[in-house]
Amino acid sequence: MSTVHPDVETVLFSEEEIAAIVKRLGQQISQDYQGKDLVLIAVLRGAVVFMGDLMRAIDVPLSIDFMAVSSYGDKAKSSGIVRIVKDLDMDIKGRDVLIVEDILDSGLTLKYLMKNLSSRHPASIEVATFLWKDIEGKQAAINPKYVGTHCPDAFVVGYGLDFAERYRNLPYVGILKPEVYS
Ligand code: IMP
Ligand code: MG
Repeated sequence: MSTVHPDVETVLFSEEEIAAIVKRLGQQISQDYQGKDLVLIAVLRGAVVFMGDLMRAIDVPLSIDFMAVSSYGDKAKSSGIVRIVKDLDMDIKGRDVLIVEDILDSGLTLKYLMKNLSSRHPASIEVATFLWKDIEGKQAAINPKYVGTHCPDAFVVGYGLDFAERYRNLPYVGILKPEVYS
């Protein structure tokens, strides 16, 4: 076993747990998208790691594209401001879009994206998020169809998730020590 990064307080999901989650999601998506025209759209940069694993766990034909939006900046708090930094290269009209996200918190980022992508007339549009901070009493702005696992209301890093662009390469998901960002 490799050692845990010193800035990580607790490991929430190990590499093995993540692999099992992704496998299950891939099977579910493969069933649901049989005979469809699937395009996975990952939200840069956090969703890149999940995207790489998820696409290999899906066994129906698909294409991939990427979007970048700015949301959190370098802080551990949502700004609520969403701006498209990089748009799709692909035309999604008539296609079955599945947005791939690393983590759903307020859902503001995805709400904006879904509205924006819907206006391009895809045949369908759904969300697959690896983590969902669905805290009791806290309503997300959207309802994701595919959820990897639920996540406590802590700041987490690894498996693509960053704090100030660091920790994305950790193979597990862990809670960042508060003293690192405060
Ligand atoms: P939302 O718009 O509040 O749902 O924010 C979602 C985005 O915020 C995600 O795509 C992440 O980039 C970022 N984010 C939210 N929570 C965390 C976290 O705990 N760690 C790292 N990034 C996070
Ligand atoms: Mg993100």
